[in-house]
Amino acid sequence: MQHLTNKRILLGVTGSIAAYKAADLIRRLQDAGAEVKVVMTDGAKAFVTPLTFQALSGSPVHENLLDTEAEAAMGHIELARWADVILIAPASANSLAALAQGRADDLLNAICLASDVPLAIAPAMNKHMWADPATRENVKQLAQRGVLFIGPDSGEQACGDIGEGRMVESETIITRISELFTLGSLAGLTVLITAGPTREALDPVRFLTNHSSGKMGYAIAEAAVEAGAKVILISGPVSLVTPDRLTRLDVESTADMEEAVKEHVATADIFIATAAVADYRPVVVQQDKIKKNEQRLTLELEKNTDILAMVKTQYAKTFCLGFAAETRDLENYARGKLAQKNIEMIAANLVGPGAEKTTGTFNSDLNELNVYWPGGELKLELATKTRLARQLVALVAQRFTIYKENAENENNIISLKSQ
Ligand SMILES: Cc1cc2nc3c(=O)[nH]c(=O)nc-3n(C[C@H](O)[C@H](O)[C@H](O)COP(=O)(O)O)c2cc1C
Repeated sequence: MQHLTNKRILLGVTGSIAAYKAADLIRRLQDAGAEVKVVMTDGAKAFVTPLTFQALSGSPVHENLLDTEAEAAMGHIELARWADVILIAPASANSLAALAQGRADDLLNAICLASDVPLAIAPAMNKHMWADPATRENVKQLAQRGVLFIGPDSGEQACGDIGEGRMVESETIITRISELFTLGSLAGLTVLITAGPTREALDPVRFLTNHSSGKMGYAIAEAAVEAGAKVILISGPVSLVTPDRLTRLDVESTADMEEAVKEHVATADIFIATAAVADYRPVVVQQDKIKKNEQRLTLELEKNTDILAMVKTQYAKTFCLGFAAETRDLENYARGKLAQKNIEMIAANLVGPGAEKTTGTFNSDLNELNVYWPGGELKLELATKTRLARQLVALVAQRFTIYKENAENENNIISLKSQ
């Protein structure tokens, strides 16, 4: 189970005999879906080489604070901003003392001070070091400041003693780190999203298209990433920056988009079709530029595939959310599409002259949506597209859970009947 999909974990490794265990931890964090960057103290480097962690994490190990080159590449403030959580495992007695004092004399300490994300610590030390009043006081202070302590365990120690101070197993650390995040509502799921307009070429210089800006689709893609999903965004031509932590595939025409969707939909749990695709394309795309010799010019158009309908027909188990932009009679058209395409949800909004006073239509940063599903509806009031996208993704997650439960119940009934 991918508990940590899209989570960025900055792993601090300090000078403990248990430093080698961080190798296994990196692997398991990555298996749980996390991206890991490693910071090592000088003490840690006496036990394990940075090369080991670099090879495992797939990214350079960060070691030095007062180093111009390292600071220029990715400095301590940038690393502090990058992380969703800082995990120190193993944490030496010395590192606990430094953190309790608020020292900033090495890279790891400076990052911890500069960051406001959760700090989790898995101590590892000899039982007497752990029991020493100085360490007890440091642990107490740090816990009072909200630091999460994971372990230590009791048992046989590297030095031959038996007692409390062993670093806990990787599995336990990952479980506790996962609990730190309010589990993303789409954690472990793959979401395929189309966004923007498509373009249908008339000749080498002209095309048919529409006013879609792609903003709503991009906002939904970002919200789905935040909710823990693996996101594939298939985008028509737009001038938007690609959000972090997703895969973007650029296409031009509706046929290109259809192709890209077919390639990826089999891996998707949820398909969200926000793209305003061209419904028709020219029957003939002229090889040369069309000349303006004629008084009248007739374009013959043929229908493109309805991508959403195609997905629902060919990949019936995929949960589908469609969009409807209508100039009037919103609910009727939206409910019509919902039934006709046999999809799970539809989000509808008014566009055109009737919508100007509220939404400002296509290129606006604001929108309002009426969402319909069989037997229910919800109005999402006028808000920024970012906010609306978060509300919509939360609703999709809710409906998806119900959809899955219903599907399982149906399967159980079918298997009971066939017994
Ligand atoms: C062989 C050996 C093993 C050590 N193991 C530990 C340990 O498990 N936990 C610990 O707190 N300190 C341990 N130490 C002491 C630390 O390495 C030392 O305090 C160091 O300064 C810690 O540096 P750091 O906290 O900056 O990484 C060990 C020292 C040696 C020589």
